[in-house]
Amino acid sequence: MASESVKKRMRPNDHFYIFSVIFLGILLGGCEKKTIPLISHPGAQIFHAMKRTDVRCYRCHGDRGEGTHRGPSLVRGGKTIPDDLFISTVLDGRGNMPPFRSVLAEEDIRQIIDWLGQIPP
Ligand code: HEC
Repeated sequence: MASESVKKRMRPNDHFYIFSVIFLGILLGGCEKKTIPLISHPGAQIFHAMKRTDVRCYRCHGDRGEGTHRGPSLVRGGKTIPDDLFISTVLDGRGNMPPFRSVLAEEDIRQIIDWLGQIPP
């Protein structure tokens, strides 16, 4: 059989190489769904609990601010709401959204707004 002759010609290193490629493929495939846009942006890191574990905007507003059943989209039509309204809502909370005044400074929230504004469509 042709496949057998192929097998015989393989060296142990070839197997390692092939498994590595498959493993990497699975790893990257798994990551793809969770990609955070512009992850190095400070706003992305605050939004995604990388700065403070108790600030988890993404859980209600989605990985790209697109909204979930727990919270509305923050980027309707590709644009965020006016900065002042955005900031006061985050500081004071509203409805089912808790206030973040004790854990976030205005500057942190401005970083989030900047990040949301840069997310590609
Ligand atoms: C527990 C879920 C939850 C978390 C966590 C959360 N939000 Fe919200 N957010 C909501 C809900 C629900 C609303 C809608 C409130 C209402 O109008 O009743 C909202 C509203 C908003 C609004 C106003 C949107 C608009 O169109 O008026 C902004 C801005 C916002 N959230 C930003 C954030 C940011 C930034 C964070 C992280 C610091 C965050 N939220 C964390 C649930 C959440």
